[in-house]
Amino acid sequence: MMKAWLYKEYGSVDVLQFGEIPIPSAGSGQVLIKVRAAALNPVDFKLRRSRSGDTPFPVVPGADVAGVVAEVGQGVSKFKKGDVVYGNILKITEGKPRQVGTLAEYTVAEEHVLALQPSNLSFEEAASLPLALQTALQAFDTVGFQKGQSVFIVGGAGGVGSLAIQLAKHVFEASRIVSTCSTGKVEFVRSLGTDLVVDYTKQSYDQVDEKFDFVFDTIGESFKSHVVAKEGGKIVDIASFPPHSSAVSMIVKPQGSNLERLGKYIRSGKLKPVIDPKSPYAFSDVVEAFKHLESGRARGKIVISPIE
Ligand SMILES: NC(=O)c1ccc[n+]([C@@H]2O[C@H](COP(=O)([O-])OP(=O)(O)OC[C@H]3O[C@@H](n4cnc5c(N)ncnc54)[C@H](OP(=O)(O)O)[C@@H]3O)[C@@H](O)[C@H]2O)c1
Repeated sequence: MMKAWLYKEYGSVDVLQFGEIPIPSAGSGQVLIKVRAAALNPVDFKLRRSRSGDTPFPVVPGADVAGVVAEVGQGVSKFKKGDVVYGNILKITEGKPRQVGTLAEYTVAEEHVLALQPSNLSFEEAASLPLALQTALQAFDTVGFQKGQSVFIVGGAGGVGSLAIQLAKHVFEASRIVSTCSTGKVEFVRSLGTDLVVDYTKQSYDQVDEKFDFVFDTIGESFKSHVVAKEGGKIVDIASFPPHSSAVSMIVKPQGSNLERLGKYIRSGKLKPVIDPKSPYAFSDVVEAFKHLESGRARGKIVISPIE
C-alpha cells in the first residue's frame, strides 16, 4: 500500500482526502515511478470540480512528476530501474483524469510521456516544468512561430506564461516580447525576458499601441486579446472554450519528446524553472497548496516535495 491524496467525489478542495491505496503496477509499455516531487496545475482542480464523467473513484490528482523508476513493464525500452525521470503523465480518455496521478508515493505512466531528468535540476525544479512547458511549446508550434516574430503573452506570471516568455526569448528568438501581470509581479515578469510589461490593473492592454505576430493568451481573454494581433497574426487561447472566433484553442499533449527537445536549453540554464515563493509544500500540505493555486495568484509553479 502507499500514501496518496485522493477524492471519491467531485467538488471543492474539501473533497480531498489523505489515504492509502495499493501501489499500482507497471503495465505493458508503462513505468512505475517512485515520486520524489510533483507539481500542481489548474487542470487538477478543474477536473476535480468538473462534476461530470464516470471516472472510477478514488482518483489521485496530479499530472507533473519527477522521480525514480522503480519498475518497468513489458516492452519498455527507453528506461530502466533507477533512472531519474520527469514528465506530465496526465492522460484524459473520454474526459476522465488518470486514476492514479502524481500526488502519491508511486505512480505509473507510459514511457513515451517521460524523459530523463536533466542532471542540473533538483526534483522540485524538474517536476515544475513538464505540463506548463509542453503547453507553451505546443502553442508556439501550433502557430509555426518563426525567429524574429513578435509575441504578446497574456498572463506572464503564471506557470505557463512564465515559461512561455523564456521560450520566446531563448528558443524562438522573438524580436519583441510583451506580457501582462498585476503590479506586484511586474519586475518578476520583466526579469524573465520581456521587453515591455503591461500592468493590467493600471492599463487595459488592448490600448497598447502595437500589434503582434502571435498572441498567446493563457488567461482566456481572447475576446479582448485578439485586438493586439496583427492582421493575419495568430491567436492561441488555452483557457477559454470556445475562444474568440479569431483564436484557436489547444489542449496540451503529454510528450516526453518535447522535454528532450528542450533539454539543451534546460541544461544550459537558459530555460529556468520558475517556482512559486511559497513552494515547496510538504506532502501533508497539499490542501493548502491547492488553495493557493485556486486563488489564481500563484507566481510560477506550485511544487509538492518531499513525497514520503
Ligand atoms: N489548454 C491546455 O492544454 C492548457 C494547459 C495548461 C494550462 N491551461 C490553462 O491555462 C490557464 C493558465 O494556466 P497556468 O498553469 O499558467 O495557471 P496559474 O499558474 O495558476 O496562473 C496564475 C497566474 O495568472 C495570473 N493572472 C490571473 N489573472 C490574470 C489576468 N487577468 N491577466 C494577467 N495575468 C493574470 C496571475 O498573475 P497576477 O496575480 O499578476 O494576476 C498568476 O500569476 C489555466 O486556465 C489553465 O487551466 C490550459
